[in-house]
Amino acid sequence: MASTLLPQHRQPQPSPSGSTAQAPRPAPMFELIPYERFRDTPAVRFFDITVAESNARDLVVHTGPAVSPPDDPASGAWQFYLHPHQQDNLLALQGGRTFYLVNLGWNYPFHIVRLESGGDILRIPPGTFHRSVSDPDGSLVLNQAVREEGASVAREFRIYNSSHIPRLYATTARTAPLPKLHGVSW
Ligand SMILES: [Fe+2]
Repeated sequence: MASTLLPQHRQPQPSPSGSTAQAPRPAPMFELIPYERFRDTPAVRFFDITVAESNARDLVVHTGPAVSPPDDPASGAWQFYLHPHQQDNLLALQGGRTFYLVNLGWNYPFHIVRLESGGDILRIPPGTFHRSVSDPDGSLVLNQAVREEGASVAREFRIYNSSHIPRLYATTARTAPLPKLHGVSW
C-alpha cells in the first residue's frame, strides 16, 4: 500500500482543510447551476428551481434595455452592486440579460455571463461587483438570495461607481485584458 511515487511524479495534493500555510485562497468563483427540467415542451415548461439555502427572494423586472445599476449619469462610468453578505442565485424567467462580474479576489477577475430565459442559475458569491444589461425587450429575473445573518438591505444594495475605485476601473477599462465570456461573443 505504501506509495512509491518518485518526486518527479508527485501529483498535486489537495491542501489540508483549514491550512493557512499557502497564500490566501482565491475568492469563491461564480457558478452556473443546472436544475431539473421535469417537462420542457413548447406548451408546458415545468422546472424545479429550488435553491434550498435561499432565505430571501427578489424579482427584478426590466421593461426594456435597462442597465442595473445605471451608469453614472455624469461620467458614463459603469456602476456595480456588491453584496458583502449575500449570495445571489439568478434565474431569467423571461428575456435575456448579460451580467458583468468583477471579483478582485479571483485569479481572472473579469467575466461576462449571459443568462437566457429558462437557462442555468447564475450564483454570484458575496464580494463580487456585478452589473447587468437587459436585452432590448427587457427581462424578468428571479433572485433566490442567501443572506447571512445580520445582513442589512441598505448595505447589501450600495452602488459602487467604478470611476471611484481604481482597481475596479482598471479591470474594466478598455485597455484592460479582455473579459472571459460565457455564452456571449464579441
Ligand atoms: Fe445582486
